[in-house]
Amino acid sequence: MSTTTDPSASDSVKGIFETMDYGPAPESDQQAQAWLERHGRTFGHVIGGRFVEPAAGERFATVHPGDGRELARVAQGDEADVDAAVRAAQEALPAWRALPPHQRARHLYALARHVQKHARLLAVLEALDNGKTIRETRDIDVPLVARHFTHHAGWAQLLESEFAGYRGVGVCGQVIPWNFPLLMLAWKVAPALAAGNTVVLKPAEFTPLSALAFAELALEAGLPPGVLNVVTGDGRTGAALVAHPGLAKVAFTGSTEVGRQIRQATAGRGVKLSLELGGKSPFIVFDDADLDSAVEGVVDAIWFNQGEVCCAGSRLLVQESVAAAMEDKLRARMETLREGPSLDKAMDIGAIIAPVQLDKITRLVEQCRAEGGRCYQPSWAARPGDGEAGLYFPPTLLADVAPASTAAQEEIFGPVIVSMTFRTPEEAVALANDTRYGLAASVWTENVNLALDVAPKLEAGVVWVNCTNVFDAASGFGGYRESGFGREGGREGMFEYLVPEWEVELEPYGEDALVDPAGGDALGLGGGGAERGESASGIDRTAKLYIGGKQARPDGHYAYPVIGADGAHLGEAPLGNRKDVRDAVEAARKGGAWSKATAHTRAQVLYYLAENLDARAREFGERLRSLTGASSEDAGREVTTAVRRLFSYAAWADKYDGAVHATPYRNVTLAMNEPWGVLALACPDEAPLLALVSLTAPALAMGNRVVALPSPRWPLAATDLYQVLDTSDLPPGALNIVTGVRDELAEVLARHADVAAMWYVGGAEGSAMVERESADNLKSTWVNHGKRRDWFDARQGEGRDYLRHATRVKNIWVPYGE
Ligand code: NAI
Ligand code: MG
Repeated sequence: MSTTTDPSASDSVKGIFETMDYGPAPESDQQAQAWLERHGRTFGHVIGGRFVEPAAGERFATVHPGDGRELARVAQGDEADVDAAVRAAQEALPAWRALPPHQRARHLYALARHVQKHARLLAVLEALDNGKTIRETRDIDVPLVARHFTHHAGWAQLLESEFAGYRGVGVCGQVIPWNFPLLMLAWKVAPALAAGNTVVLKPAEFTPLSALAFAELALEAGLPPGVLNVVTGDGRTGAALVAHPGLAKVAFTGSTEVGRQIRQATAGRGVKLSLELGGKSPFIVFDDADLDSAVEGVVDAIWFNQGEVCCAGSRLLVQESVAAAMEDKLRARMETLREGPSLDKAMDIGAIIAPVQLDKITRLVEQCRAEGGRCYQPSWAARPGDGEAGLYFPPTLLADVAPASTAAQEEIFGPVIVSMTFRTPEEAVALANDTRYGLAASVWTENVNLALDVAPKLEAGVVWVNCTNVFDAASGFGGYRESGFGREGGREGMFEYLVPEWEVELEPYGEDALVDPAGGDALGLGGGGAERGESASGIDRTAKLYIGGKQARPDGHYAYPVIGADGAHLGEAPLGNRKDVRDAVEAARKGGAWSKATAHTRAQVLYYLAENLDARAREFGERLRSLTGASSEDAGREVTTAVRRLFSYAAWADKYDGAVHATPYRNVTLAMNEPWGVLALACPDEAPLLALVSLTAPALAMGNRVVALPSPRWPLAATDLYQVLDTSDLPPGALNIVTGVRDELAEVLARHADVAAMWYVGGAEGSAMVERESADNLKSTWVNHGKRRDWFDARQGEGRDYLRHATRVKNIWVPYGE
């Protein structure tokens, strides 16, 4: 352009070259605004295939956080709306479930295509409603949404072969948050529909629009009416939905606090539950990491989506020797980040969702500063009047933060990272795990040995090696500890929407099949139990507890009589109390050696156990006969089945493999089956030996340390096992047994913070209690809701369902290639 004679133009070009400033690069919102206009900027719920007026006529505004302008008014759903939606989903269920898998697959493919076709509308709508940048909605959210439906179309297609023996759970109630509105919809709706379920979805009150647009697109794409219903509203609507008795499954993503409430609200209802909750994920940088890559990693970890990401790498842990260099590079990089209008294609960071969230971020940062944390924000952050035009918070680094401080422990859910240093890998792991959460972790090192040594030690459902915030439909995603339970994505995620057919077929226990769970009367305790004593024969026949590899007297020194089927007094069993349960958990906690033992070792110990039990088969048969009144033949069959079951799990110990997921990146995604750690289980009365073995063996095979409550009525079948255990090389703490009033002891276990998972087979009330009381540390539970299993039937009593419940999947992402 040397011929130009216009001095101002050449100035401007020259000026641009000199400053290299970005100009505005706005994405047009015309299409999205036209869509809103077409609906008169007023929406109802989508129920039974059409937009429906809210029963009470109440609406509220959803705004664009970038400028506070109202985008539309949406319906505030109440119980009547929720009920109508659940009924529509119930009505649509039989036909949808009966569709041949291939037909359902076609529907899911159609949804994926429609998302692709309307990608621009959805991306802009999402950016407008949430305030996040168009760059992210366009390049990440919407493509991942389409990918999710395509992937799950595949699962629908393969359902009968890949999930043989399972069926869809039924009507699903799904409540999602505002940070990835459409992506969270896809994560929940795609597997639900693929499994043959129908859905009532409640989007977050701040971001209802993309769900409404999606529901409309789905109808255009030919999804049958009622298969996907959307009810909008706030937390009250969400609470009404999860309380609805018509649901078979509840899936929730959001805060840990609400997750707890939902755990309690669904307890005892026979509802399957998955919770994806908060996080405070570590981002660990070792001294041999490529620091420039690690800095870009931090950008993606905490400044992606304004840091409003459940798995955001919000705790930067840097090895001391490179901490200064890392900080310098990071601060330089922060200067170049750009924050501003969502629809500007050159923005890195958009607006915070709402004033309440901005206040929370501001408060936590101020508190950290007041406590002596060093606070860095880029020089451009000091713009007066921020927060008035839009809800912006600058990228922030809080350094020298104490590990126990609020800023290091609370989920800030904003563009704020706290940094700490460590010296050794052990210290890094300890710091990383010093949180009540366990959603994700990111590890940066050029040393593959170090990365793969650290990854299994991290208490997190996802570990990214030299990468961060990578997601794909083929990989499971979900938390450990208070980050919730259940997985979304991949084969792991499909199980959340399926139930084994054998479980569906179970019938409730008969009236008097179970000992009164509430008290000791049915155990013949006559109140508080009897002092441990000698039986009429004068021989001390009081069994003991089994804790930490030793027989232990119960703390309270009480015992209760065990009465055989013919009324004979067969001996005394210890009446364990809270203290005994706590001791057992402590022994299990310390029994980490069992979890570290190789699968081969665990297999050998289980074989050995089986052989030792087999060697005493006659004695055990006799005992069972006198306890339960079973015929010799049936008692013998119980013992041989128990022996066989032990052999089965010995076989399984080194064969229940993980997977390498085919995620579409240059990496391997290793899905590892990890033990829970301490797993507690409560056994029913029937088949006292076989039930105990059926529950304990898979848990042990997968490397869990177990606290078992055996049959309260016939505990001697368990206490007789001690000698077998003693001779079978099971390390101390791997299996602990506490006898007594089962539901009283189960309650202590359900509440115990060091118990990571709990299984309960017994009455409906006890099941409800375990689910309710587990809410505190959000332990994973597997309860039978008062339904009787046939322990002799291998389909009901052993196999992959047990192994799956005995493990949790950790996905480790390892990039390869150039
Ligand atoms: P929230 O957990 O209250 O909201 C998530 C969803 O649950 C929304 O759809 C909401 O309407 C619904 N909800 C609220 N109360 C409910 C109840 N009692 N029963 C059923 N549904 C209910 O989260 P909120 O208030 O938007 O954000 C608070 C904090 O939660 C954030 O600062 C952040 O720390 C965390 N959060 C975590 C998310 C994650 O992805 N893990 C997502 C959103 C928030
Ligand atoms: Mg909004």
